[in-house]
Amino acid sequence: MTSPYEVLGIDADADDGEIERAYRRRVLETHPDHGGSAREFQTVREAYEAIVDGDGTVDVDRIEEGSDGPGEDGTGDVAGGSEAGGDSEGGADAAESEPAATVEYLDYERLTDHGWDLGDEDLFEKAAAADLPHAAYGKFLVQPGESLLEAAENRGFAWPYACRGGACANCAVAVLEGELSIPANNVLSEELIDGDIRLSCVGEPLTDELRIVFNVKHLPGLEELRLPPHPFDRARADD
Ligand code: FES
Repeated sequence: MTSPYEVLGIDADADDGEIERAYRRRVLETHPDHGGSAREFQTVREAYEAIVDGDGTVDVDRIEEGSDGPGEDGTGDVAGGSEAGGDSEGGADAAESEPAATVEYLDYERLTDHGWDLGDEDLFEKAAAADLPHAAYGKFLVQPGESLLEAAENRGFAWPYACRGGACANCAVAVLEGELSIPANNVLSEELIDGDIRLSCVGEPLTDELRIVFNVKHLPGLEELRLPPHPFDRARADD
């Protein structure tokens, strides 16, 4: 057993701010995209959760290589994710009896292109009529047990992310209708949450239908919360 504080590299009497900063630093250090491993990354996540839950130790030996963390290629543990481009089939290993959620999505970059605003009441109606490419606007189902980011990736989309652990704002989305859970938010302020900003890497739908704008990482208050790298940016740069 290892002290979770030791895993994060802080003293046992660290305050909340020190814990949050250490978590973000360690997530970045241990992410496979930064030379770490899935095991290290998972250990850091469990250490943080242990501190939050008041547990005193983390069983590092129990954490198997690659368990429940991002893959070595940084794409994450996307269970059953082979339906790229599909609109109605999910990829999560979840109970079939639970209903999937329908997510209507729009790329924030398209708002600027068309002179639209997040506050436009008919934003999604305008997007639907604009003949946008499937990568920028459309719908897909999120199966029970999938995060929004996993669902997007399982359907072949390259949405932005960095840590996949609730410690940056790279994967942020604006939820305009419906609700997305925030189970591991370590970075969003109350103001951002009140503004319906959520993290797609850890957020799962809480309603049957959602309308979300993804790729909002450049919004005020989010830019400074980003972490490198930015796979989505790299993908676009290669377009
Ligand atoms: S990718 Fe960092 S919080 Fe989602």
